Amino acid sequence: MAWLDVNTETEKGPLHPYGAVAMFALALAASTGVLLRFGLYQGMPAWAQNYVAVRHAHSHLMYFGWVTLSLMALIWRALPALTGRPLPRAVAPQMAASAALALLSFPAFWVNGYGLTQIGRAELPLGAMVAGLNGVGWFLFVWLYGRATWQLPTRPLPIQLWDWALVLLLLASLGAAGLAAMPAWPSAAATLQPYFLHLFLDLFAVGWFNLALLGLLWAELSRRGCALPRWLPTQSLAIAVTPTFVLGVPPSLVPDGAFWTGALANLVAAFFLAWHGRWLWQYRRALPWLARFGLIFLAVHGLSALAVLWPGFWAWSAGTQLRIFFLHNLLLGWVSSALLGLWADPQPEQAWWPERGIYLLWAGGVSLMLVALLGLGFVAWTGITAGSWLRLAAWGSVPVALAAWGTLGLGQISAAKIPFQHDVRRLRQRL
Ligand code: HEM
Repeated sequence: MAWLDVNTETEKGPLHPYGAVAMFALALAASTGVLLRFGLYQGMPAWAQNYVAVRHAHSHLMYFGWVTLSLMALIWRALPALTGRPLPRAVAPQMAASAALALLSFPAFWVNGYGLTQIGRAELPLGAMVAGLNGVGWFLFVWLYGRATWQLPTRPLPIQLWDWALVLLLLASLGAAGLAAMPAWPSAAATLQPYFLHLFLDLFAVGWFNLALLGLLWAELSRRGCALPRWLPTQSLAIAVTPTFVLGVPPSLVPDGAFWTGALANLVAAFFLAWHGRWLWQYRRALPWLARFGLIFLAVHGLSALAVLWPGFWAWSAGTQLRIFFLHNLLLGWVSSALLGLWADPQPEQAWWPERGIYLLWAGGVSLMLVALLGLGFVAWTGITAGSWLRLAAWGSVPVALAAWGTLGLGQISAAKIPFQHDVRRLRQRL
């Protein structure tokens, strides 16, 4: 296999544009989220009447274009320093295809979501087709990652976490395959469809996103010269998060035994995540500022595992807006804050004032939006109307989108802020 050296003296490797593409996806998907948030209390505008399709466009661009593309690019960025090997040449076309397909998911879902769209004489499920093609890009990534890390004499902690993150990515993809097969099996659709949907959506987030992100944070700390803890949960964390997807399925479809398996596994997973969180907090001074901020939401995510065990809470909460709170606490508060930190946030003392302003905008908006979503979940007890909470969530989302556009603008002005700066000399010494 031919190999590609991504590291350049100029800090601009061939993967450099993908940080900007991911940031663009974040900004566009966040703006779509703002549209949905205002749509929820003012109604959707005439040019975006299909709320469900727009929501699919938002969530898929976030999943494919922002988080997955970022994780892949950041893993490729960090890998050579951990393996002592350059990257396979095929990484460049794989990333180009993944970026293009992720961006394509936005218009494909915007039109009709997972429904059929008339193109000429044919009726095509555009969203499902593009989602399937995105899956091919992930498999290519897994295969190339396997080649790049094959038979390493030792597998450092970040690589162990990425190994398991990719196992969970493949497992979650089975859910997507199941969803695609549903039209051929209509009699089982009502029962199985929610299971496949949450195997895909939830395991993708709590499995692939979480473990890959933890690996990146530990790789960043090791790059910054921190001695990593002797042991942290990797395989055990991956095993514990696997059954937790059943908690996303509507309670009426989940037998008691499956619920308790999911809830107890969720508790064990929360314990292992807290283990990582505790150590990351110990090293917080070496972490990007936004990653430190994200740790607050990781803690909230862990605490929610206890709430699920409260008798009746899970079944009750499924009928409220709390699902959207838990989802965005994990995906926006924790995963996106930490990722933004890894892309754009140097050591806090090196940040200049527009960057600090952007981080404050992000942190303020995320906090406001999540507090409003929590208030909406417990609306009956708050003494505040649902309309007021919805309005607060909508206005809270505006600074988040502005911060995303601002990061994109600053990142393009200052190339080093979207860095691919492996130290080539150190890498060459190892080779
Ligand atoms: C500015 C930030 C964000 C805003 C304003 C926003 C807004 C929204 C809104 C309004 C909904 C629909 C809620 C409903 O129908 O009750 C939604 C759903 C969703 N969002 Fe976000 N969101 C943001 C960030 C994110 C991020 C960062 C991710 C993932 C990385 C994400 C993933 C999702 C998912 C998976 C759904 C559920 C889709 C479904 O059930 O079909 N969102 N978001």
